[in-house]
Order: sequence, then structure tokens, then C-alpha cells
Amino acid sequence: SASVDRAVEVLAGRRVAVLTGAGVSTDSGIPDYRGKGAPTRTPMTAQQFLSNADARRRYWVGSHLGWKVFAAAEPNDGHRALAALETAGVANGVITQNVDGLHVRAGSGRVVELHGTMRRVGCLQCGQVFDRRDLAERVEADNPWISLPENVELGPDGDVTPASADGFVVPVCSVCGGTLKPDVVFFGEYIPVEKFREAEQLVHASDALVVAGSSLVVNSGIRLVERARRKRLPVVIVNRGATRADQRAAVKIDGGTSDVLKAFAERLPGLL
Ligand code: OAD
Ligand code: ZN
Repeated sequence: SASVDRAVEVLAGRRVAVLTGAGVSTDSGIPDYRGKGAPTRTPMTAQQFLSNADARRRYWVGSHLGWKVFAAAEPNDGHRALAALETAGVANGVITQNVDGLHVRAGSGRVVELHGTMRRVGCLQCGQVFDRRDLAERVEADNPWISLPENVELGPDGDVTPASADGFVVPVCSVCGGTLKPDVVFFGEYIPVEKFREAEQLVHASDALVVAGSSLVVNSGIRLVERARRKRLPVVIVNRGATRADQRAAVKIDGGTSDVLKAFAERLPGLL
């Protein structure tokens, strides 16, 4: 399309930082937060999780079921194109707001996971970190009855609202018995300062910023766009529907991330 051609012109010969959101994973069957058909549930806040054992039980049932969905999801052409662009020396790395781990699985090497990842679970008391797969086995063993309900509404965090959490045995830290929490930024929580700085540095070390599949409604995303603009880097946005930075973009492509990123991966390496 004409807008893809213009974006390729703008990006030609530049080292590109990429910022992704939930839209890059919808083609892998994981819903987004604010797109068409996104689920309409309010996510649990860190406050609720920390202050209430019942809330933690509900969270853990949903998070465990959601993990099974994440674990079964496969990277799509968009994730693969970004990995290929990095290998070709076009992309400097990926900053993602997603917690599904699909960029890592697609082979991207430098991935800044701004909102953390569901692959890891941490103990809030002693700090021990657990691999999600190992923990999921423990949860299954403790709750052999658990299975994905049919027609369930999945959230982008891979969370599920179960009909009931009665009887669910919540996993605890095997070292100290403490409270376990997936290594993700909850609603109402801040991104660790070092993590945001890492993202900023990636933008500063690049000659352009590509945003793919994010409404940029969340502040950290829009702040990275501002950093790029302040350094006079051109910003290219690939998103179905409006984003909060459309006015500030050199080129806005209203299209699917899988197709458009694939087109970038076919065309940009030859223009370096
Ligand atoms: P959003 O759901 O806000 O935005 C995703 C955007 O992608 C929407 O504008 C969709 O229309 C678009 N979209 C969906 N599928 C697409 C496709 N295949 N091709 C192109 N565009 C597509 O998701 P994010 O911007 O990622 O934070 O949301 C940011 C943060 O808000 C999340 O990380 C989460 C949430 O609060 C935390 O949980 C801390
Ligand atoms: Zn512990």
C-alpha cells in the first residue's frame, strides 16, 4: 500500500527501535485490551492482590488457566519479522508492553519487557524466582480437577475469570512459604525504573521508532514516543484504529501488524 511504501522510505537506512503492544499478538489468538472485541473486564489491581487472600485465590485460578493458553500460543509473522529485522541489523531491539513472551520465543534477542513476563513467578517475601512451567506443574498436581472451562473469556494477560475459585490450592514459595506473584506489572503498579531506562536507552540508540499494535493509551508507551520525538527521530505507527500518537507520527499505517511487519522484513534489510 502507499503508506507502507512511505514508511519504507522513511525507515530506509535507519536503525530502528520497535515498541509493541497487544495488537501484535492478536494473530496468535491472544486478545488485546482496547481493540474491537476486546474483553470488557477490569483487571485486578496490585492493591487487591496484596490485601486480600480471596482475591489472590481468584487471581491464581485465572492466571494458571491463562498460562495454559499462553503456553499453547505460537508466535506469528509479526513476531518472526521483528526477529528477522534484528538479525539483519535493521532493528535494534524490541520494547514490548506484552507479557506473553512471544517475541522471545520468535527469536528476538534484545527484548525489553516493560510490563514483565508470565514466564517467571517471584516470591514477594524472599525474592526467589520460579520458572512458570515448573510452577504450573505444581499447581496441576495440587489441583488435579482444574481445566479450562468452555466458552471462557480470556484476557490479554492470559487471565480468565473462573466461575468459582472454591477449593483452589494457591501455590506458595517452596523456599519460605511466602506469597507468589507472576513477574508482571499489575494494573496500578509502576514499571521498575531501570526497566524504563533500558527502554529509553534503546530508543536513544536508534534512528527511528516503529510502534506496532498499541493504542498508546498507557503512559509509558506515549512517553517513549515523546523521547523519540524530542530526539527528532521519525515515528512510524502500524495499528488498526487510532492511537494516542497518530498526530505525532511521520507515517501512520492502518493495517495488520503481521502483514506490515513482514513487508518491512522483506524490504528494509536491502536498504541498509
Ligand atoms: P491495546 O489493546 O490498548 O491496543 C492494541 C491496539 O492494537 C488496538 O488499537 C487494536 O485496534 C490494535 N490491533 C489489534 N490487533 C491488531 C493487528 N493484528 N494489527 C494491527 N493492529 C491491531 O493494547 P496495548 O496498547 O498493548 O498494561 O495496552 C497497553 C497496556 O494496557 C497493556 O500492556 C496493559 C494494559 O493496561 C498492564 O497490564 C500493566
Ligand atoms: Zn520465598
